[in-house]
Amino acid sequence: MGKIICITGASTGIGLATALRFAREGWTVYAGTRNPARDQELYRKENNLHFVQLEVTDPASIQSVIDLISDEQGSLDVLFANAGFGYLRALGQAPVEDIHRVFDTNVYGVMHTIRAALPLLQRSGYAHIVATSSVGGLVGQPMNEIYCASKFAVEGLLESLATYYKPQFNIDVTLLEPGAIATEFTKTVMGHVAGTGGILEDEYKPVIDAYTAAFLQRNVKPQTPESVAEVMWELVHMETKPVRIRTSERAEAFVAHKVSADPTGLDGVLSTRKIQLNM
Ligand SMILES: NC(=O)c1ccc[n+]([C@@H]2O[C@H](COP(=O)([O-])OP(=O)(O)OC[C@H]3O[C@@H](n4cnc5c(N)ncnc54)[C@H](OP(=O)(O)O)[C@@H]3O)[C@@H](O)[C@H]2O)c1
Repeated sequence: MGKIICITGASTGIGLATALRFAREGWTVYAGTRNPARDQELYRKENNLHFVQLEVTDPASIQSVIDLISDEQGSLDVLFANAGFGYLRALGQAPVEDIHRVFDTNVYGVMHTIRAALPLLQRSGYAHIVATSSVGGLVGQPMNEIYCASKFAVEGLLESLATYYKPQFNIDVTLLEPGAIATEFTKTVMGHVAGTGGILEDEYKPVIDAYTAAFLQRNVKPQTPESVAEVMWELVHMETKPVRIRTSERAEAFVAHKVSADPTGLDGVLSTRKIQLNM
């Protein structure tokens, strides 16, 4: 039987590229979007690609997608919790509503998604949960503290699930950790900055100026979302699934000092599993 994947945040970027890659390989793809009519029309020639209304801050919206997959397929092989967005304001600048908005999508959105899908994944015999974190989920970065904190939270969530989902439910758990990718991500971040007064003339200005200059210099050629989709394709076919996977050499180099002792995260998780569960 063909395999089934559900992807959140599949209207653009990494989610869309992954949806197209998997659909073209014959997988049945449930592609979460906030505009299914538009996206289904745009990609009407793609067999196997089903856009579904999905807002990750709304548990009822996620539940209705899971119910649909359950009714139509009865099982789910891969859940890809990918929806998220970046945020470039210092903690000392950000309105409290913005902090909640970032966490509502990037953290609670991932929790709602996994929580809703878990019973179906458990019933599927074997499944794989992948969430898009970031190199910013491993390495804190200037002016990105709110975004990085949200991705660190995703890291903590999935690393914890990885300690027992495999032996208990036969579900693998992986954090996908991209560096800079050429998607709508930067446009959304900079659009928010532009729409809220631009780069502010305050004590953070020298920091953000230095950060953006260095970022642009380092990321003249960001990785393509299609190449991230290729990493996803390889990931789901690995015999032993890593707990963490970077999407490029550059991303690997960026986090090397943090992960060199355990690049895949597997040693740490297996050790925790042994110590705390004797499994
Ligand atoms: N691009 C990078 O440099 C980079 C680096 C590291 C990690 N990441 C992570 O990669 C993931 C995908 O981002 P991307 O780079 O592909 O950017 P993107 O092109 O902006 O795609 C983000 C996707 O998430 C969706 N989304 C955002 N908030 C949502 C919500 N509340 N409910 C449902 N969908 C929502 C967007 O939908 P709409 O089109 O409706 O807004 C879009 O489909 C994110 O988790 C991001 O943090 C990106």
